[in-house]
Amino acid sequence: MLVLGIETSCDESGIALYDTQQGLLAHRLHTQMAMHAEYGGVVPELASRDHIRRVLPLTEECLKAAGKTLQELDAIAYTEGPGLAGALLVGASVANALAFALNKPVIGVHHLEGHLLSPLLADPAPAFPFIALLVSGGHSQLMEVTGVGQYALLGETLDDAAGEAFDKTAKLLGLGYPGGPALSRLAEQGDPKRFTLPRPMLHSPDLDFSFSGLKTAVLTLVRGQGELDNVTRADICAAFQEAIVEVLVGKSLKALKTTGHKQLVIAGGVGANKQLRQKLDEAAQRRKFKVFYPPLEFCTDNGAMIAFAGAQRLAQGVIGLGSFGVKPRWDLGSLGTPVQP
Ligand code: KG4
Ligand code: ZN
Repeated sequence: MLVLGIETSCDESGIALYDTQQGLLAHRLHTQMAMHAEYGGVVPELASRDHIRRVLPLTEECLKAAGKTLQELDAIAYTEGPGLAGALLVGASVANALAFALNKPVIGVHHLEGHLLSPLLADPAPAFPFIALLVSGGHSQLMEVTGVGQYALLGETLDDAAGEAFDKTAKLLGLGYPGGPALSRLAEQGDPKRFTLPRPMLHSPDLDFSFSGLKTAVLTLVRGQGELDNVTRADICAAFQEAIVEVLVGKSLKALKTTGHKQLVIAGGVGANKQLRQKLDEAAQRRKFKVFYPPLEFCTDNGAMIAFAGAQRLAQGVIGLGSFGVKPRWDLGSLGTPVQP
């Protein structure tokens, strides 16, 4: 089965071709980062317009790279939500139009399901069941995953997402947009012990997170410093990163302990964070569990995870029911067992 995946939920146009026998055949990505940087964040209308410009040329490039034609597709998968309504509509329109013209099934994929299953694109891949730590710009969740479509929410952020906390803190420190990767690069040069920042909810009895207090603590710290020199800026980055990583690792360990599972899967943009990976690898060795990450390029938004999730759903017999729409807000836990159309 050959599936075309289309991702347009936010500021990245991602297209990919996944074959259930041969694996990922081709993928292309266009990031709008530079376009939005000027505004300090994503401008939804600009995002939608750019997706319109990119989706078809990227699809043509993918088909060419894989040596395939549109007629050879078995299904078209697209991100149905959650995300920016206008941006989602671009992918949904292209996917539904292609499916209609080719008389092929169309599959609306949950963006977070794409992230959640993306570690299955790596080798070695985890087997079900596992615990997933989903840390992106919009979400921070711990899920118990027992199969495709079987996602039980164990805990989530009560306020900012981990990626959002990285981005807002980076902005505060004048590191531009999106600040997560920049903050983490600068943190490598800093001393994490010079400043002490809180570890919000690290020892709370639940599996929830809260990151907005951490961001406020950085704001207070920055205000107390006056003009920031580069060394101080790097030290603050290091202290912030250490705090957030400690909380993410601590809660993941707690989720493993509570459920008794021995596999942890990390997904979403913050999963690209080097220190998070290092600390999780150390903990995995110490505590005898296995940790899996998506290939680095598939941590942040991409078409491969949508094509892959679409292929899994297709195998379950899930296809569009002829309703063309998007779901800007969509709870992953509500997916449940798919109903045969
Ligand atoms: O999953 P993603 O591409 O988009 C959403 O679905 O939200 O995640 C983007 C988020 C941004 O907040 C970005 O700053 C963060 O992931 N991010 C990182 C790193 N790379 C991306 N945060 C920390 N360290 C990184 N290396
Ligand atoms: Zn994402």
